[in-house]
Formats: sequence, C-alpha cells, structure tokens
Amino acid sequence: VFHLHPKDAELSSAGFFGKFDNRQVQRGFQVFKEVCAACHSLKYVAFRDLAEIGYSEAEVKAIAGQWVIEQPSVNPDTGEAATRKNVASDRFPSPFANEVAARAANNNALPPDLSLIAKARHDGANYVYSLVGPDGYRPQPAALVKEFPGAKTPPGLHYNPYFANLNIAMPPPLTADGQVTYTDGTKATRDQMSKDVSAFLTWTAEPKLESRHGAGLAAVIFIAIFCFLAWGAYQNVWRDVK
Ligand code: HEM
Repeated sequence: VFHLHPKDAELSSAGFFGKFDNRQVQRGFQVFKEVCAACHSLKYVAFRDLAEIGYSEAEVKAIAGQWVIEQPSVNPDTGEAATRKNVASDRFPSPFANEVAARAANNNALPPDLSLIAKARHDGANYVYSLVGPDGYRPQPAALVKEFPGAKTPPGLHYNPYFANLNIAMPPPLTADGQVTYTDGTKATRDQMSKDVSAFLTWTAEPKLESRHGAGLAAVIFIAIFCFLAWGAYQNVWRDVK
C-alpha cells in the first residue's frame, strides 16, 4: 500500500501510434545535461546520436566539445590517467572514474547508467517521471514507520514511494521550478522537467520506437487484408461442395 504505481507522464511516444515529440525530447536532454549528467552516464548513447532528435551536425560538435564531464584518457608522456574533451563519436561519460569512486561520492550507492533505464524498469517512462517528479520525494508517512519500524528512512537515504524499496540513495534531483532555463521558452516547472527527462530517457532506451510502431501498424493492416483474402479464397474453394 505504500509503494505506488507510476503516474502517467502523458508522453506522445506512448501507445500503439506513439511518436516522439522532438522538442520535448530536446528539453529532456537539456535536463539530463544540466542535472542528471552530474552523476549518471549514458554509455550506449553517443553525442552524434543527438542528430536523431533534431540537432544539426554543428550543434552536436559544439555539445560534445563543451560537455563538462570529459572522457577518461591517458597522458601519452607520463602514462598517468587523464581526461580529454569529448568528440561526436564518444558516448556520454560517467563523471566517476570507476565504481569505487562513484560509490564514495554517493553514500555507497551506485548511480546506474541511464541509457536503458526506461526499458529496465517496469512502466519505465512513467516510472522515471514519477520518481524524479514533484510527487516522488516526500516525507515518509507516519503510518508506515508505525507498521514497519525497520523501514524508517535511514540517514543519507530519501523516501520515495515510487522506488521499489521506498528509500533511495539519490538525493532529489529536481527541487525547484526554473532549475533549468529552456531554450524553447517552455516554463520549466518541476512537473515539466520530469516529464521531459522521461521523454529523453524513453528515446535513449528505444531510439527506434517510431519505426517499430510503424512496422506494427503496417503488419496489422497487412494481416487484416490477408484475412479478407483468405476468407474469399475459402469461399471460392468450397463453392461447389455441399
Ligand atoms: C538512481 C534518474 C540525477 C544519483 C537513479 C535511477 C533513476 C535516476 C531512474 C534508478 C532508480 C532505480 O534503480 O529504479 C535520475 C534523473 C536525474 C538524476 C532523471 C536528473 C533529473 C541524479 C543526480 C545524482 C544521482 C544529480 C547524484 C547527486 C543517483 C544514485 C542512484 C540513482 C546514487 C542509485 C540509488 C539507489 O540505488 O538507491 N537515478 N537521476 N542522480 N541516482 Fe539518479
């Protein structure tokens, strides 16, 4: 009763005929870039993939070149670990050198790679929206602690009824309206930012969603016509048989 089912993020990509709203996906990218990328990588997504959501080649190059988190690299002279600027073919890097460093910075929790999170979690798009949205982080209900004293949120964790075990290590990432200033002029309410980042992570998890929906529709139309033809053939074959 305390763990909640995700709320509907009302994404245009949902449903049989769903298509991405590139403007929304781009806003979601802006949220990822300015907020989530401080802790999360997208190891299956390259900067140049952004062309698919409407960025030009020049924009992709600029985004990669200015990305704050750099790629791990090696200093050719000393052999020491170093970083270098991103190029279009690089994947979105993790801000942490390795798992130990990531856990050290996050109260021993590991920020997962977000490339596929919208697929990995049940009802993923709505889940991401609900988890980081205005309805996610909230005070722990007293009734819960009364019934399950062991579930009391420990120091360093945060209560969130959409997270499977109710206490999550991620601090609330979207805390104020206007945290991001959208370049398209959309008002960046917490609700809007969480919907947009959910749209973006739906795209990273399934960039071919639109062609899948298109193929599905074509297949259904084909099968409908085929059924009709098969029925006609059946009528024809058995015409003279009593
Ligand atoms: C986990 C999304 C920003 C640290 C997660 C999960 C998602 C997520 C979907 C996985 C929850 C699960 O396992 O089901 C986001 C989004 C962000 C964001 C959309 C930006 C809006 C951040 C930031 C930090 C952070 C800025 C670091 C300060 C973590 C950590 C976990 C996590 C440590 C692991 C939590 C646990 O296992 O208890 N995040 N995140 N996240 N995130 Fe974030």
